[in-house]
Amino acid sequence: MKIDILTLFPEMITPVLESSIIKRAITKGLVNINVINFRKYSKLNNNQVDDTSFGGGAGMVLMCDPIFSCIDEIRTPESKVILMTPSGKVFKEKMALDLSKEKHLIIICGHYEGVDERILSIVDYEISIGDYVLTGGELASLVLCDSIIRLIPGVISEESLDSESFSDNLLDYPVYTKPQVYRGMEVPEVLLSGDHAKIDEWRHEQRIKKTQEKRPDLLK
Ligand code: ADE
Repeated sequence: MKIDILTLFPEMITPVLESSIIKRAITKGLVNINVINFRKYSKLNNNQVDDTSFGGGAGMVLMCDPIFSCIDEIRTPESKVILMTPSGKVFKEKMALDLSKEKHLIIICGHYEGVDERILSIVDYEISIGDYVLTGGELASLVLCDSIIRLIPGVISEESLDSESFSDNLLDYPVYTKPQVYRGMEVPEVLLSGDHAKIDEWRHEQRIKKTQEKRPDLLK
């Protein structure tokens, strides 16, 4: 998969790509990520990319031309263009799974008061990571990338993906590691039994119980 991230603040993005599992996925060639500062597509003095809002109002609006020009250059028939915006559809694991099957994602990070509405004409998906407003789309784009990249085959083990939170609309089961007793708290007996059928059954019950307690909305 190829991902192009269009931003005015590349320094917010690149360090995250240079760490942990994303870094490994890049090194293994499973994903290729370009961070593009779309300011370089501005044809105006001082590389201007934003201006005041027609009709008045606080804040600056990102102009069409730098973003259109950048996308004209990098878009192919296989590309899907995503705009990170608090007005978008709220991001869910199922969307991450669908997007992980795409060949090329172009992610636009909005900033300031928003983007000129006409930019939506070249956008396939408007996505929000939750009902709150961030200072820009950069952190949101990283959330999107992280959740998508880990689902690309070969990035993490298939086994880790099998029963994790949100698969089957259930949260993940509780896990424990050594020591067996810590400050008087014991690991559930069944996990020490070596009986894998019993362990699987217990874990499934725990997933249902945990979801009922913490996220009953997922069971509806
Ligand atoms: N930009 C600002 N807030 C955002 C959000 N909640 N999701 C995606 N992009 C954003």
